[in-house]
Amino acid sequence: MADKVVITGGASGIGYAVAEKLLAEGGSVCLLDMNGDTLAAARDKLGGERITTGVVDVRNEAALDTQIRNGAEAMGGLTGCVASAGIGHRKTILDGDAEDFARIIAINLTGVYATLRAAAKVMIEQGTGGALVSLASATGVRGCAERAAYGASKAGVINLTEVAALEFAKHGIRVNALCPAPINTPLIAGVQDANVRAEWMQGIPMNRYGEPAEVAELAAFLLSDKASYITGQAVNIDGGWSAAGVQTAATRIAKGAGR
Ligand SMILES: NC(=O)c1ccc[n+]([C@@H]2O[C@H](COP(=O)([O-])OP(=O)(O)OC[C@H]3O[C@@H](n4cnc5c(N)ncnc54)[C@H](O)[C@@H]3O)[C@@H](O)[C@H]2O)c1
Repeated sequence: MADKVVITGGASGIGYAVAEKLLAEGGSVCLLDMNGDTLAAARDKLGGERITTGVVDVRNEAALDTQIRNGAEAMGGLTGCVASAGIGHRKTILDGDAEDFARIIAINLTGVYATLRAAAKVMIEQGTGGALVSLASATGVRGCAERAAYGASKAGVINLTEVAALEFAKHGIRVNALCPAPINTPLIAGVQDANVRAEWMQGIPMNRYGEPAEVAELAAFLLSDKASYITGQAVNIDGGWSAAGVQTAATRIAKGAGR
């Protein structure tokens, strides 16, 4: 069964890499993204017949529902969905405010809720089951200074993924979360200057950042029947960062050492 997968945030970074991987394996993809320019560029770069695209903001639930439904129709069904749309954010609790916090939650958490919900509804109507993958983060697994809103949104995604796995199991739908850190994408480039990057490097046992293609391998596996008994899991993919026990950057900032 060739994959028929909707990918939010599919115009860039991890979402784009998942599309590239699935297309190489003979699947079809529907890329949804709020950035029409990068979406058009992604479509041109990926090329081929098995791609559809739609411009949508994941905060617009009705439009997202329609786009996911349209994507499924264009592909002749829906076997998977990857909720990769998200934005980076680096601010301490004291430097932020509730409005800014709510903005991050709306995109990174409520947007994933709306995506999983819309895709599950289509799969339940089809009666064929499927697999959903959400993008959480290693910063949602443990506290990380300057990641108040971002980390909270990603911790929420992990719990939401568990709940979705429980509720959708009876429909034959598996749901898993990916917890990457840090991966070389435009998102990371936007929130990390050279100093922050150097600090992060100290906490990564593998001594390098990951690549989007490495995350795509894991997503493709979780979407496939090879992962047929895996659901409700949050899988770290972070070069050992979460296993290290000591977070150099987070600890330094927490102690007030500054940069
Ligand atoms: N890069 C990392 O190190 C890393 C680590 C952990 C988690 N993640 C998560 O992985 C996901 C993908 O991140 P990435 O690094 O590939 O980033 P990216 O910026 O390369 O891609 C994210 C895409 O999402 C789109 N997007 C943003 N807000 C949207 C919205 N409201 N509606 C629709 N589309 C929207 C952007 O236009 C962009 O194309 C995000 O959820 C991110 O939080 C990334």
